[in-house]
Amino acid sequence: DWKMDSFVKTTIAELKAKIGTGKALCALSGGVDSSVAAVLLSKAIGKQLTCVFVDHGLLRKDEGDQVEAVFGPEGPYDLNFIRVNAKDRFYEKLKGVTEPEKKRKIIGEEFIRVFEEEAKKIGAVDYLVQGTIYPDVIESGLGKSAVIKSHHNVGGLPDFVDFKEIVEPLRLLFKDEVRAAGRELGLPEYLVSRQPFPGPGLGIRIIGEVTAEKVKIVQEADAIYREEVAKAGVEGLGQYFAALTNMRSVGVMGDGRTYDYAIALRAVMTSDFMTAESAQLPWEVLQKTTSRIVNEVKGVNRVLYDCTGKPPATIEFE
Ligand code: XMP
Repeated sequence: DWKMDSFVKTTIAELKAKIGTGKALCALSGGVDSSVAAVLLSKAIGKQLTCVFVDHGLLRKDEGDQVEAVFGPEGPYDLNFIRVNAKDRFYEKLKGVTEPEKKRKIIGEEFIRVFEEEAKKIGAVDYLVQGTIYPDVIESGLGKSAVIKSHHNVGGLPDFVDFKEIVEPLRLLFKDEVRAAGRELGLPEYLVSRQPFPGPGLGIRIIGEVTAEKVKIVQEADAIYREEVAKAGVEGLGQYFAALTNMRSVGVMGDGRTYDYAIALRAVMTSDFMTAESAQLPWEVLQKTTSRIVNEVKGVNRVLYDCTGKPPATIEFE
């Protein structure tokens, strides 16, 4: 794609000229935007860039390792990569908390605290890198930033970090252009075409209290679901995932009675995530996923499909 090719080349040259021998710091989530921003910076300034990846223990199955494989020392890019395994801290803070907004707030605040601690160790930097894209800029311009930004957990970091200036290399791009740039930069397809994943992660896909055991259940169920959807080649889904309902119900297994959790599967089609329709997944996909989940994931004896649109439901469960 010649257009992206020239965007990538020009941007790297501009970043190089602007930053010179300075130091930059980036909070890497493993999402498309922060990943593409990080790679552009790494191509421009190499090891003058440090990326901090906070693993809050609420990522999808194997996701932390996938991010590390791409950005860590074994990966193809030249940069300093710090992975903070902070899951115990997050689980501890979330103990006993059931209220959705409170969970979001705790996760967001703990995230900032962890990032801040790492930033302090690094010391003063010249630039803070952010993966802001054009639609984020527009939202802020309309004065909706307070609501939307807290919802998407961006915009909170700068106050806590000692830096001179923010760099936002993706400010003028739409999402599909960011993905194209990512491909141009050699990022793996699973990362480039990743569906949106909320900052609070699985924390808001587990209804009620978050525990290590529940995280494990939802990770396994979600991985099976994604595998089956991919195998069936279903296309056009805006977002799809498994959530752990807080409901347990009676089931039978062999000669015994079980009293286990229900997993909910959700798949939506949407153009802007403000409204969404429940997707008509092929029945075979739902059945195959269901039978694998109840057979392979301990603690689950029932699987439900969410047929609700947004509104009145939201895309996420909490
Ligand atoms: P809802 O559930 O509000 O989701 O219909 C709309 C889109 O926003 C994402 N989402 C979040 N993203 N922090 C985030 O970074 C959050 O707290 C959050 N809540 C929802 C959701 O995944 C969907 O893409």
